[in-house]
Amino acid sequence: MARPIIIDTDPSPDDAVAFLMALGSPDELDLLAITTVGGNAPLVLTTKNALKALELVGRPETPVYAGAAGPLCRNLETAEYVHGENGFEGFDLPEPKLKPAAGFAPDAIVDLVMARPERAVTMCCLAPLTNLALALAREPRLAARLERIVLMGGAFSEGGNVSPCAEYNIYVDPEAARRVFACGAPIVMIPLDCTHQALTAKARLARLRAVGKPHMEAFFHLLTANKRFDEAKYGTDGGPLHDPTVVAYLLRPELFGGRDVSVEISCDEMTRGMTIVDWWGVTGRPVNAKVLRAIDAEGYFDIVIERLSRAARG
Ligand code: BDR
Ligand code: CA
Repeated sequence: MARPIIIDTDPSPDDAVAFLMALGSPDELDLLAITTVGGNAPLVLTTKNALKALELVGRPETPVYAGAAGPLCRNLETAEYVHGENGFEGFDLPEPKLKPAAGFAPDAIVDLVMARPERAVTMCCLAPLTNLALALAREPRLAARLERIVLMGGAFSEGGNVSPCAEYNIYVDPEAARRVFACGAPIVMIPLDCTHQALTAKARLARLRAVGKPHMEAFFHLLTANKRFDEAKYGTDGGPLHDPTVVAYLLRPELFGGRDVSVEISCDEMTRGMTIVDWWGVTGRPVNAKVLRAIDAEGYFDIVIERLSRAARG
């Protein structure tokens, strides 16, 4: 039976690749809902981008719930400098006809998880963790009910991408991240240390395009444009394809290597959003996450291309 999942996201192109891969994996994954949050772009745009991506592949049946417009107790810091004004620069997709589902994303998360048996639903988080933190606040039994949380976020030995020590998703809402990491549910954290090894090199994007389907052509252009910022910043051929690692981990965990460790979140100003990973177990603090640090990048792109290409209906 396919594993029920919810994907919480702030669609830029790499977020969309992740949830479309899930739709392209019906034997393994049952995508109950997409929930959106303000992050890479304001909420109205991240929600619209989710709907655009679903329309592109002809999959209108997946409900999209809009959630928090911004962090728990800070102003939202968007990332148009990376993803463009609409969060989806590089290929003009039409205004979606689809509408968001009625309801607030944190409520949808609670309702969908609590309606299913214990440890049934996996929460996949690709964005600032505000929606999940709000859901945990509304329903404290949620943590015990989740199968696990798999999230893209954080950084340790690699350093940060929005500050010397913090990765964007955790930096934007560190108070939410702190609440999630303390909730007691099993957590898999996929930090920059892992995603920075998985670059959208030209040869990989050429393979993606060569599939020859219209949505693959669209994602070729979206990812090419989207990774220009990182290519210039890091001097690499391609940029990190962050968020699909979460879905790839569910499908092919053997592509990844990591360790069970203690992770704490800094909410201090200078180190805001830093994920303090006790890789060597020096603190004696209890383990609260599996942190992934190794990835088979070729195997990863194989599964990304295979499952993304299967997302389109017809
Ligand atoms: C994360 O930030 C966003 O820009 C990406 O979608 C990814 O979730 C990487 O730091
Ligand atoms: Ca994201």
